Amino acid sequence: MTNIPAPVQIPFAAAEAVQRVQRTSRRVQQPQSSPDLVSLAVGEPNFDTPEQVRAAATAALAAGHTHYSPAQGEPVLREALAGRLSELTREPVSSADILITHGGTAGLAAAILGIVNPGDRVVVPDPTYSLYADLVSMAGGVLVPVPLAADLHWDLEALSSALDGAKLFVFCNPSNPTGIVHSRAELEALADLLAGTDTLVLTDEAYSDLVYTAEPFTSALQIEALEGRTIYCQTFSKSYAMTGWRVGYLWGPSSVIAAAARVHATFNGSVNTANQLAALTALETCGPDIERMHEAYTRRRALMLEGLAGIDGLHVGTPEGAFYLFPKYDASLSSEEMVAHLRKHGVAVRPGGEFGQYGEQHIRLSYAASEEAIVEGVKRIAAGMAALRATAAQ
Ligand SMILES: Cc1ncc(COP(=O)(O)O)c(C=O)c1O
Repeated sequence: MTNIPAPVQIPFAAAEAVQRVQRTSRRVQQPQSSPDLVSLAVGEPNFDTPEQVRAAATAALAAGHTHYSPAQGEPVLREALAGRLSELTREPVSSADILITHGGTAGLAAAILGIVNPGDRVVVPDPTYSLYADLVSMAGGVLVPVPLAADLHWDLEALSSALDGAKLFVFCNPSNPTGIVHSRAELEALADLLAGTDTLVLTDEAYSDLVYTAEPFTSALQIEALEGRTIYCQTFSKSYAMTGWRVGYLWGPSSVIAAAARVHATFNGSVNTANQLAALTALETCGPDIERMHEAYTRRRALMLEGLAGIDGLHVGTPEGAFYLFPKYDASLSSEEMVAHLRKHGVAVRPGGEFGQYGEQHIRLSYAASEEAIVEGVKRIAAGMAALRATAAQ
């Protein structure tokens, strides 16, 4: 019998950058779903990608677009995007400053890792999309979370002191998780706070097509006083129901985009060629699809709001965009405990604390779910809240 030596046990600890994220991350892994659970937890359209976009990908593959794309992205897509963004900016946007990324996620990563040095202060509203904090940790930056005002809009006074000496301010508009839309006036107030400083602004406008206010959405790109310091991050995931395709993009000052492009080329390489060509079809043809989905979200939002209004102990503000509601609850449970409690009543939602410490006492509900799921899910939330009240009254 041959003596097979045991494999060596190499001591391993994840890189410090990974450990920093592990130590600080608030992102929670969704527990396994069960068939009887109604989910209002996911941040993903329940629509399929429009047919003509899928057909465009098939056609691109059939035509032999199976090779590497240029690292910064397909020139035709970058040209088309530059044209779109030029409708928002005063000066024409150059396609040389557009970087196609693997969804918004990789766009945010390329921007933050391209900008932030160890020790740099990065200000974020709190609560906000949880990826920003993890990327700042990975870069070794210092996260400065600024609590939102009671109406979930920015607290400008608190922002003003936090922004002093900051390298970067990152926010999403419309906001995940609050559903708030920051108005032109709010963006202009931000510009005033930053006047005369070197602070950069990263605006994540993933939900910009999903706005339900009478006032049209204002992009940070339309604010003259933010010009020169703004990096714009966008994705095809939400507007076009293309979450699985992984196409997004960045635009901003040439020097910042060059830094982000370096991160992108080093970490990822170019985005799937056929998917970029399909994204071009989405950009050029999906206006009516966006409208159709917007109408559905408008109905679903009303349905959810109407259902939640009748639940004692839940306080819902006025959501203006994305597909989220962020109610505050009256109960002495942490948001994670509240999520676990509601799960026992058959409905999955997200804990507000996942999006920042000041998100506690809130839950995030998504209405990117079917009308049946919304009606049933809200019924189960009502039952869960009633059970808590009954226990408290004992
Ligand atoms: C605010 C915000 N930005 C970016 C993303 C990332 O989107 P993508 O699927 O394009 O990576 C999400 C996804 O939930 C999001 O909510």
